[in-house]
Amino acid sequence: METLGRTKIIDLLRSKDFGTSFLVKGWVRTRRGSKQVSFIALNDGSTIYNLQIVAGSDTFDDEQLKAVTTGACIAVVGTLAESQGQGQEAELRASSITVYGTADPTSYPLQKKGHSLEYLREIAHLRPRTNTFGAILRIRHHMAFAIHNFFHDRGFFYFHSPIITASDCEGAGQMFQVTTLNLAELKKAPCGGVDHSDDFFGRPAALTVSGQLEGELAALALGAIYTFGPTFRAENSNTPRHLAEFWMIEPEVAFNEIEDNMQLAEDFIKFCIQWALNNCIDDIRFLNDHFDKDLVARLQSILDKTFVRLGYTEGVEILEQAQRNGRSFEFPVYWGADLASEHERYLVEEHFGCPVILTDYPKEIKSFYMKQNDDGKTVRAMDVLFPKIGEIIGGSQREDDYDKLAQRAEEMGVPTKDIWWYLETRRFGTAPHSGFGLGFERLLLFVTGMSNIRDVIPFPRTPKNVEF
Ligand code: 4AD
Ligand code: MG
Repeated sequence: METLGRTKIIDLLRSKDFGTSFLVKGWVRTRRGSKQVSFIALNDGSTIYNLQIVAGSDTFDDEQLKAVTTGACIAVVGTLAESQGQGQEAELRASSITVYGTADPTSYPLQKKGHSLEYLREIAHLRPRTNTFGAILRIRHHMAFAIHNFFHDRGFFYFHSPIITASDCEGAGQMFQVTTLNLAELKKAPCGGVDHSDDFFGRPAALTVSGQLEGELAALALGAIYTFGPTFRAENSNTPRHLAEFWMIEPEVAFNEIEDNMQLAEDFIKFCIQWALNNCIDDIRFLNDHFDKDLVARLQSILDKTFVRLGYTEGVEILEQAQRNGRSFEFPVYWGADLASEHERYLVEEHFGCPVILTDYPKEIKSFYMKQNDDGKTVRAMDVLFPKIGEIIGGSQREDDYDKLAQRAEEMGVPTKDIWWYLETRRFGTAPHSGFGLGFERLLLFVTGMSNIRDVIPFPRTPKNVEF
C-alpha cells in the first residue's frame, strides 16, 4: 500500500482515470449503508466535496468497518470508478482500509450536521473539520494570497513592521502591555507609576495597534509598501465586528494624494473579491446555500459599481434628513459625531445601495497624523463603508508638514518624545503620502457572508476569551 503515493481528494474528483488504483487519506464524515455495501464520505480538507468510498461486504466484514465512524482518520486504497449515485461523478471502490485514528461515537463532539456556530466556537480545536470552517479557512488562505499578489504585481514591497512597540499609533490608549516584570512585586517609580528600569526594554512597551507609523518610514524610502500582520487592541467592545487580535493590511504610498488613495482602496478590494469568485467559488457557493442566500450576488454587485465618494458633512446631512423623514437611529447624529455602524450602513445599504468612501472627517474624531484641510476643521481621512460590515477600511492622506504634525500630536496628547523618529521624516525629505488599513477579518466577513467576526479567524481573541 505504501508504494502508492497519496492523491488529494480535490485531484481525484477531477480525475477521469477510471479503473486505476489510488490511495487517499482523510477523515470520515459519515458512513451509511446496508448489509451488502457501506458508503463512506471521506474529506481530506483539500476541497469542500467529499469522496465517496464504496466498501463491499465481499471485501470487508462488519468487524473491519466497526472503527470507520464519523471523525475517524483512515487511509483507503481502491479503484476509481464512475459513480452510479447522484451528485458525484467518481467514487473509490475500496480494496483496503487502514484506520489511523478512531473517534469514539459516544464522545466525538461533531456527530451530527448543523451544529450552531456558537457551539462550534466552544470546540474551536475541532471546528476546522466541519464543512463551514473548512470553507472559511480555505477562503482565508486565498484572500491572503490575493493580497500579496495584488501589491507585488503593482511594485509594492512587503514591509515587516514590528509587533512590539513603544508608541500608540492610533493614540486611543487601547494597547496590551508587554512586560517581563513580576506583577506580584511591582516597584513604584519615584514620581508615581511603575518603575520600568528593570523591565525587559527598560521602559513601557506594548503590542502594536497598527504598523502604519513604521510603514510610513518605509514608504518614504521604498516608494510603495504594504504591511500584513497581526495587530492588537484592548478595546472592550464585544461586538460581532471587533477582535482583540486581528490582521491588518496597511499599504502606504509616497506621492499619493487622498484621491489616489481612494482609487487604490477601491481597486484593491475589488481585486480581492474578484479573486475570491475566481478561486473559491465552491466554498462560497456552499456558504451561500447554507448561510447567506445573497452572498454570490452581493459579491458580484460590488464589482459592478463605482464606490460613491462622499464628504462627511454631506453624509451627516443625509442622515439628518433621514431622521426628519422618520428614520430613527440608536446613536445621535450631528456634525462632529463619530458615526456608528448603523449610520454607516444606512448610507451604504439604504441611501446609496453601494459602497461609500466617506472623506474629510472632523479632526477631533480622527488620529493626529491625518493631513489637515484648509478649513481648519476637517482632515483628509477616508473610511470605506461596506454593506453588512460598515467600516472595512480606514485611511488618510498624512500630514507632511512638521510643525502642523507636531502641534496636532501635542494637542491630542500623543507624547512626541515617543515618536521623535516619526516626526523626523517630516524634517528630512518629507513628501505627500497616503495609506490605509484594511481589517483582514472584516474583508473575510464580507467575502464569506458570515455575520460574526469570531467565525472568520481560527482562534478568536475577545474579552475573557483566550482558550485554544
Ligand atoms: O481605522 P483603523 O483604526 O486605522 C488604522 O489603524 C490606521 N493606522 C490604518 C492606516 O491608515 N494605515 O483600522 C483600520 C481597519 C478598520 O477599518 C477595520 O477594518 C479594522 O482595521 N479594525 C478591526 N478589525 C477587527 N477588530 C478590531 N478591533 C478592529 N479595529 C479596526
Ligand atoms: Mg477607523
